[in-house]
Amino acid sequence: MLHARLVGTLASAALLAGLTVPAFAQSGEVNVYSYREPGLIQPLLDVFTAETGIKTNVLYAGDGLLERVESEGEFSPVDVVLTVDIGNLTGAKDKGLSQPITTAAIERVPAELRDTDSDWVALSLRARVFYVSKDRVDATALTYEDIAKPEWKGRLCTRAGDHAYNIGLIASRIELWGLDKTREWLTAVRDNLAYPPTGGDREGPKNILAGTCDLSITNTYYMGVMLNNEAEPEQKDWANSARIIYPTSEDGDGTQVNAAGAFIAKYAPNVENANKLIEFLLSDEAQRLYADANYEFPAVPSVSPSELTLSWGQLVPSKVSLVEIAAHRAEAAALVDELQFNAGAQN
Ligand SMILES: [Fe+2]
Repeated sequence: MLHARLVGTLASAALLAGLTVPAFAQSGEVNVYSYREPGLIQPLLDVFTAETGIKTNVLYAGDGLLERVESEGEFSPVDVVLTVDIGNLTGAKDKGLSQPITTAAIERVPAELRDTDSDWVALSLRARVFYVSKDRVDATALTYEDIAKPEWKGRLCTRAGDHAYNIGLIASRIELWGLDKTREWLTAVRDNLAYPPTGGDREGPKNILAGTCDLSITNTYYMGVMLNNEAEPEQKDWANSARIIYPTSEDGDGTQVNAAGAFIAKYAPNVENANKLIEFLLSDEAQRLYADANYEFPAVPSVSPSELTLSWGQLVPSKVSLVEIAAHRAEAAALVDELQFNAGAQN
């Protein structure tokens, strides 16, 4: 009702002003819940509205959106949910909050980056990489296996092992190597930590500058976030103390990626417009903007990342699918617990 009223108000305002009713009053609307910030999303949605005449109503929140969709149930007004991390995307499907995306545009995204039933799709990618000290590390290429070697003793750092970013990395190792090899690897990585996991992804580069860490496991986009941080310019120094290495696996697999993505809500009142929005978000133009907004990689491989992102090197994404990563999240969490990874080095 709220939305009908809003369109009505706009139409009356247009009539009062002696104008024809704007196109979006006739083309309908789409309701979006966005975990991602307005600064990232709104410019894109403005282009969508300009191109399609479909109005967007957006609720932004850093937390609790999936819980909200769940508690609203069939009365939920939401059509499209924009969120980050594979755990949230597969979690929505597991809880029955999503429905299959039907736009053919979904096929622009490689199969390993979308749901097997099309219940969600990646919109942009972030890679879990190594930030190494420019001063104290000579290596130009490293594997994930390498950081378990004795030469890294007391030199590694990362955030908590049970944070979604590290769970994704560990889960992908389980898919690739099996549980036993992953346990062995994670134990050695734990014992190479310079200090117990702490802070967020930027804590590592900060400590690389401080000299207490030589290699931090951190997501790619933080390099861009720190380099462009005018509010806290000291972060530029953190970023400049490190360079990025895209780790590979000894078996030839590429760098682990996680995704920001979207799903259409099960009870979406505007399913057709929801699919149009997804189609738009997967267009070349939107893919570029969506990825650049947070220094990420487009999910559509034919769209080039920004020059800044490219300056960090060439990303060759792992072939492990997001669905496979999600399937091992619980085992990854249990392993982090079992090894008391968050307590830091034990040997
Ligand atoms: Fe992040």
